[in-house]
Amino acid sequence: MPDDPPVPVTGSAAPPPPAPAPPPPPLRRLAAPHGLAFGTAVNLTALAEDPAYRAWVAAQFDTVTAENAMKWAELEPTRGRYEWGPTDALFAFAEANGQRVRGHTLVWHNQNPAWLADVPPDELGALLKTHVQTTVRRFRGRVWQWDVVNEVFEEDGTPRDTIWLRALGPGYVADAFRWAHEADPDALLFYNDFDIEAVNAKSDGVYDLVRELKRQDVPIHGVGVQAHCSVESPPTTPAENLGRFDALGLHTALTEVDVRMAMPSDPVKLQAQANVYRSLLRACLLTPRCLSFTVWGYTDKYSWVPGWFEGAGAAGILDENFAPKPAHRALRDDLSSGGARRR
Ligand code: G3I
Repeated sequence: MPDDPPVPVTGSAAPPPPAPAPPPPPLRRLAAPHGLAFGTAVNLTALAEDPAYRAWVAAQFDTVTAENAMKWAELEPTRGRYEWGPTDALFAFAEANGQRVRGHTLVWHNQNPAWLADVPPDELGALLKTHVQTTVRRFRGRVWQWDVVNEVFEEDGTPRDTIWLRALGPGYVADAFRWAHEADPDALLFYNDFDIEAVNAKSDGVYDLVRELKRQDVPIHGVGVQAHCSVESPPTTPAENLGRFDALGLHTALTEVDVRMAMPSDPVKLQAQANVYRSLLRACLLTPRCLSFTVWGYTDKYSWVPGWFEGAGAAGILDENFAPKPAHRALRDDLSSGGARRR
């Protein structure tokens, strides 16, 4: 077969390079048709000092949670003197970017002010009520969901032995919700906890608590499932668990999602991570009253995980250079699948 005749050189210029692909639609825009808010915890130092971090938060999310700034230790480091500045800055940012705020968190055994340890037990009830109502009133009408009470169960479903349980007895949980509701009747009030993504002894404890609170007409509106997960032990029954809270008439929210892995990361672990994020999002989309999906910091650059889990990391949906990971694509693909939920 003779060689093909040479292609005549026409002198035409090489074809222009393809136009750069348009940026993918923001997660907030993909989530909206599902009636879902997509959010992130916000590191306020990074928000102030890292332009790339700030741009992503503004563009991608329509609900934000202060990672630390609204905790009691940060709000009232000196007794009687509240430091509202950092939180005011977050609210200004959120309002400028059309974002709703999740308030995190009013009653917890962690990150309380150091001076609390010197307060006589018989003064703690009045002090806690003052903290809850001072904080909720400060942001009345501007907080969408409050994590009123955080992490009161042990892994086996028994009550955690905290300063509040010891001083006030189990009734403080219901009181905290009543105090918050009195201070802002329009805020949605949540109980929030970790390791309750699946049906297990701990989520059974939460289920029994919130069912009893509702029976007592306590103003509780939702359950926050933190979903701090790992690729090595993915949650097994998230949809079944969210569904049982929904069946009580409660809202749910994925409030602190991240999926850590034993470092170094590799393509297999990153795909496994994507599958865990996808399973949690799908569980939320399958749950009519699941209101929001919040990642606990979207980039590996500022993740809390390496400082808390030795040898683990890479828990976010973007890497430390803000490059999307397979998990980000998985979330986008599922949110792009269309099909608005019926509520
Ligand atoms: O603000 C102080 C600073 O003044 C001091 O110089 C510095 C060094 O000691 O510490 C700073 O406080 C740190 C704080 O983060 C703010 O950066 C605390 O030591 C540190 O313990 C704290 O870690 C936070 C952790 O909660 C505390 O339990 C993480 O950033 C935060 O991501 C994490 O978030 C929690 C949720 O609130 C509840 N669910 C679990 C989740 C992970 O633990």
